Amino acid sequence: MPRKTILSGMRPTGRLHLGNYVGVLANWVKLQSEYECFFEVADWHVLTTSYEDTSGILRDGIEVVMDWLAAGIDPKVSVIFVQSDVKEHAELHLLLSMLVSVARLERNPTVKEQVRDLGMGDNVMYGHLGYPVLQAADIMLYKAHAVPVGEDQLPHLEITREIARRFNTLYEEVFPIPEPLLTRFARLPGLDGKRMSKSVGNVILLSDEPEAIGKKVMTAVTDPEKIRMGDPGHPDICNVFAYHGRFNADAVEDVEAGCKSGELGCVKCKRMCAAAISGYLAPIRERRKELEADETAIVDMLAKGAERARQRARETMQQVRQAMHFAG
Ligand code: TRP
Ligand code: SF4
Repeated sequence: MPRKTILSGMRPTGRLHLGNYVGVLANWVKLQSEYECFFEVADWHVLTTSYEDTSGILRDGIEVVMDWLAAGIDPKVSVIFVQSDVKEHAELHLLLSMLVSVARLERNPTVKEQVRDLGMGDNVMYGHLGYPVLQAADIMLYKAHAVPVGEDQLPHLEITREIARRFNTLYEEVFPIPEPLLTRFARLPGLDGKRMSKSVGNVILLSDEPEAIGKKVMTAVTDPEKIRMGDPGHPDICNVFAYHGRFNADAVEDVEAGCKSGELGCVKCKRMCAAAISGYLAPIRERRKELEADETAIVDMLAKGAERARQRARETMQQVRQAMHFAG
């Protein structure tokens, strides 16, 4: 039986952090052995919120791809490409934009949140409202059966499913209805306990050196009731403990017991945590350095990826045009 297809993407926002890794990227790496995978750098999506200065988008895309490869995405197995290299995304986006109402897009909680957080008010751009439509085109162009994403993307995926159903009913049964593939236990808090995000400045990057990791972990917010060694702590409300759980599985029980009894102090606990994270990331960091030394290889790889993506995209668009009576 042919393998099912997945497509997923990230906006190129520069170097990736541990939250991106735990929430999405680690899952992608695993899924490569089960599915035919398309991984996309969603560069056009960046324009929905940052259209004024576009000079860094290409560079940020390269950084993201280096992190993907360093973490174990294998271009021999998966198709890695940049959205703007495959113009079919634009054509499908246009056609799909006719199949979804403005009211439906305005109800999308992710866009609503962005509008609030970025203080956009009445200045929401037409293209920004269409963010989920562009994402639907990404997914449907490869006839993906499943989409591995973080929880925050579920509202977008629901719109894709509605659009795909609508297309199939109106014209022809061209598209599978894609399922979300969520990662369990996927949320890693930022060092301050808030959502890990570059704009908040509470992130550890996949490419951070051990010293940087050590410094950052020292700033982490822990149990506020544990002030000095000897005070019993509550690991379940401590951010550092969340990191132990994910990156220091062998020692996690000892840390928990030491924290609760008071024997383990936070400074030592943080040192252990930083060492565990550094150790975990060491192979990724090494591999990334090798990739950085030969950037033209990345550019070549992306050109090949775009060619493979285009091939699939052309086939789908042929079917779409036929179904809509645009093709002879
Ligand atoms: N919206 C996704 C994000 O912000 C990125 C994305 C673009 C995407 N196209 C996609 C994710 C298609 C999954 C499938 O992370
Ligand atoms: Fe957190 Fe460790 Fe301090 Fe306990 S000892 S509160 S787990 S940093």
